[in-house]
Amino acid sequence: MVSKHPDTGIPNVGVYRHEVKGKDKLGCMVNPANHGAYIARRSAELGKTMEVAIFIGHHPAVVLGAMTRGDINLNELEIMGGLLGEPLEVVRGETVDLPVPAHAEVVIEGVIDPRNMVTDGPFAEYLGYYGEGNKPCYLIDVTAITMRRDAIYHDLDPAHREHVLSCVLGLESGAYDAVKRVVPTVQAVHIFPSASSFVFAGVCIRKRVPGEGVLAGMMAIGDPAIKGALVVDEDIDIFNEQEALWAAGTRVVADQDIHTMPRILGAHLDPTTYDETRLKRGPMLTKVVIDATKPVGLPFSTRITPPKDLWESMKLADYVK
Ligand SMILES: Cc1cc2nc3c(=O)[nH]c(=O)nc-3n(C[C@H](O)[C@H](O)[C@H](O)COP(=O)(O)O)c2cc1C
Repeated sequence: MVSKHPDTGIPNVGVYRHEVKGKDKLGCMVNPANHGAYIARRSAELGKTMEVAIFIGHHPAVVLGAMTRGDINLNELEIMGGLLGEPLEVVRGETVDLPVPAHAEVVIEGVIDPRNMVTDGPFAEYLGYYGEGNKPCYLIDVTAITMRRDAIYHDLDPAHREHVLSCVLGLESGAYDAVKRVVPTVQAVHIFPSASSFVFAGVCIRKRVPGEGVLAGMMAIGDPAIKGALVVDEDIDIFNEQEALWAAGTRVVADQDIHTMPRILGAHLDPTTYDETRLKRGPMLTKVVIDATKPVGLPFSTRITPPKDLWESMKLADYVK
């Protein structure tokens, strides 16, 4: 869904769910931590409505570009062009003053009055649980629908890999940039697919100073969608979940290396979220940094590693008939 910030006019794109609410009404459920919600709240403050255009069916790079995390002033339409390797062609909406990616299969235009919230659901949520069906959402008054002849509807399976993996590129690159700003020796950031592809980031650093591990992890969990970070040294392949868990299992001193931070605005669909009273569900959750890096300047057990020459000289065929 494309919208634009009422102060700067910079377009914003995100993928949101839109429950059909009537013949010309759609829900629009935006996590309060996402930029779409900041735009809606600012529009409400100014007493303005918010124009939107939902485009369905486009190049996968365009969908991935919509998932970019970063500064609110970053124009996702330009990121899409970067991923495509050529500028993204856009057209003006028919009834809204917004740039809409050309060649989409279907475009639904409309207007949100952000002072008017309703609820949506229940839906199968991306974390793998059934939702409760009362999430606050905005209401779109549809003003136009355009489509290509024989339009193809791009659907996906909610809460399965195709849903959650769409977000990974944006989350990984955003978290990598955030960590790199303070720990330039970061080697890689990887969102672990097994933890619902969203919530847990592996961060690999070349640690040379005490405390760098926790600092790197804190930067990674700065993204509202990332609930936890596991920080490892450079000898660990963070893209290999078995290695990452081995590091967590063998290098973490539980009472000093697990740092929890409660009451942080996060992914409000997570089943562990809470409100100000902690008695009801709300937009906050408790985040965690697990520092699985080895201590700096202190002895630590040496990892078993076969000598490289010997390892490479061994041929499986010599042992298996
Ligand atoms: C299939 C799919 C469905 C999504 N559904 C929602 C949703 O209903 N609400 C939401 O806030 N984010 C949803 N997201 C995640 C956002 O699109 C993503 O976090 C994006 O970066 C938000 O953009 P924004 O910060 O510019 O608002 C979904 C992502 C995908 C791939």
